[in-house]
Amino acid sequence: MAKNNMDQDILKILYTEDEIKERVNEMGRELYERFQGEEPLFVGVLNGCFMFMADLVRATGLKSELEFIGLSSYKDATKSSGVVQITRDMQRDITGRDLIIVEDILDSGNTLAFLSKYLMSKGARSITIATLLDKPSRRQKAITADYAGFIVPDEFVVGYGLDYAQMYRNLPYIGVLKPEVYTK
Ligand code: IMP
Ligand code: MG
Repeated sequence: MAKNNMDQDILKILYTEDEIKERVNEMGRELYERFQGEEPLFVGVLNGCFMFMADLVRATGLKSELEFIGLSSYKDATKSSGVVQITRDMQRDITGRDLIIVEDILDSGNTLAFLSKYLMSKGARSITIATLLDKPSRRQKAITADYAGFIVPDEFVVGYGLDYAQMYRNLPYIGVLKPEVYTK
């Protein structure tokens, strides 16, 4: 693996590049089984989804379309504010479409509760949630993922799209950030 200067900020690795690849391929196969013969529209939640989205849509092999929506609730902190804002809206009409939301992590559920409601109000026919990580211990909203890659403990994780203050997204693995990195 190439050297990088981010490894030193990581307390421990939770999922290696290979483990992520294997799990994402499995999720792709499951989505293929579920949606083959249909033309779903993947809706990726920016910015965290970018790596997972790229790998997942290839793994499904589904004839499908892609869209992205930018949402923000974190404001560079490690705790959710609970208030979700649209920072970049979708570019097309989703009326009558079967949507697959692609999210990096389902934590309090505020983001996906907001997004599901928003997409239904825009005329979506159905919504399926595919999240790479699920942190059920922190849920505040009654929302569950249809497909979840890994159930994670209540720790702040970064890498493979997930950030702290917009950094570490490009780590190929998922790891727990050293607390001194965000408390200093
Ligand atoms: P929720 O609205 O609390 O469910 O949070 C969802 C969003 O919070 C995700 O899309 C992430 O951007 C962010 N988030 C939650 N937990 C973590 C974490 O452990 N690391 C990095 N980002 C996180
Ligand atoms: Mg996110």
